[in-house]
Amino acid sequence: MSLKIIFAHDLNGGIGQNNDLPWKHPPDYAWFKAHTLHTTIVMGRKTADSLTKALPNRRNLVLTRHTYERVGFSVSSLEEIFEKAKNESIYIVGGTEIYTIFWPYTRDVYRTVIHGKHDCDTFFSPSFSALTLHNRTELEASETYAAATFEHWINPTPQAFPT
Ligand SMILES: NC(=O)c1ccc[n+]([C@@H]2O[C@H](COP(=O)([O-])OP(=O)(O)OC[C@H]3O[C@@H](n4cnc5c(N)ncnc54)[C@H](OP(=O)(O)O)[C@@H]3O)[C@@H](O)[C@H]2O)c1
Repeated sequence: MSLKIIFAHDLNGGIGQNNDLPWKHPPDYAWFKAHTLHTTIVMGRKTADSLTKALPNRRNLVLTRHTYERVGFSVSSLEEIFEKAKNESIYIVGGTEIYTIFWPYTRDVYRTVIHGKHDCDTFFSPSFSALTLHNRTELEASETYAAATFEHWINPTPQAFPT
């Protein structure tokens, strides 16, 4: 199977602010949920801290160099995630430290571009030059959320998982 990255960034490449999302964007939350429901999701400890609880109906794996004991979360390791990804689709759900580790090995990238520029302190702007666009959907702004572009990119030649 494969590793998949899912993330949302604004026009500056910003993804986070004060260990939270910089925006409220229900259509992006719905897109995220539609992709990740009933899968294994992998997040860094800081992203796990940003959640009020584990995301329901998903296996919530956390990467940390310390202990992390919280209902609904299980600590994992890079080795274990690469091993699992041989047999199932695993979604890497952030933040920047964790996206950066898995980016070279990832086949599918689900990117939401949140239009506009938001106050952010965490950024993720990888190169898409080796990837091909599989599909793209535009969403108009409403009174309560920004316009957004939903994209699915594929890396045809991800690196082999480290052994
Ligand atoms: N817009 C989006 O799509 C999106 C998605 C997710 C998150 N975010 C945002 O991103 C921000 C957090 O991102 P971040 O980059 O600061 O933190 P992060 O990637 O969520 O977590 C970093 C932590 O992961 C652990 N870690 C990193 N490398 C590791 C390794 N090789 N082995 C084991 N553990 C490792 C460390 O935990 P320990 O310190 O415990 O050892 C490290 O402090 C927040 O603002 C969040 O809201 C945005």
